Amino acid sequence: MKDISTLKDLLIEQLRELYNAEKQQYDTLVGLSNTYISSYLDQAIKKHIGETEVHINELERIFHELDVPSFGEQSQAMLGLISEYNDIVERSTDQEIRDAAIIALVQYMEHFEIAGYGTVHAYAEELGLDDIAAKLLFILKEEKRFDERLTQIALMHINKKAKSPIIF
Ligand SMILES: [Fe+2]
Repeated sequence: MKDISTLKDLLIEQLRELYNAEKQQYDTLVGLSNTYISSYLDQAIKKHIGETEVHINELERIFHELDVPSFGEQSQAMLGLISEYNDIVERSTDQEIRDAAIIALVQYMEHFEIAGYGTVHAYAEELGLDDIAAKLLFILKEEKRFDERLTQIALMHINKKAKSPIIF
């Protein structure tokens, strides 16, 4: 692997990590579709699947602007989060507990992305890559908005139901 010797190298490396993480998140969200019962969760996740497609396209435009390939390796960090929390979702026997576990899984993925986009946005600004910084800020804001929506859904709807699940 190539050495990372400049801030721009570090930016590119982390953009690749985020690009692969987005693709893994996309597959995970699509895989989760229709496995939950909350209509709020359904709406929020489906909206974010569309946003994730946009994020992937934006990142491809950024690689094009930087004139570097995107590379195709998986993000081991994202993979770890997904397999860890997917296991928890799968072991949740009650549907309402399962919805709460799905929110946890999705929020862990979101927080990973929020940390990553915050970092690359700061690097792009520091390097004077204004157009790229603007694109990254746009993505960062969408990730934060989705995360806040999930918190709202968990607090207003899901956690209470998970506390007293309906037993069939
Ligand atoms: Fe995203």
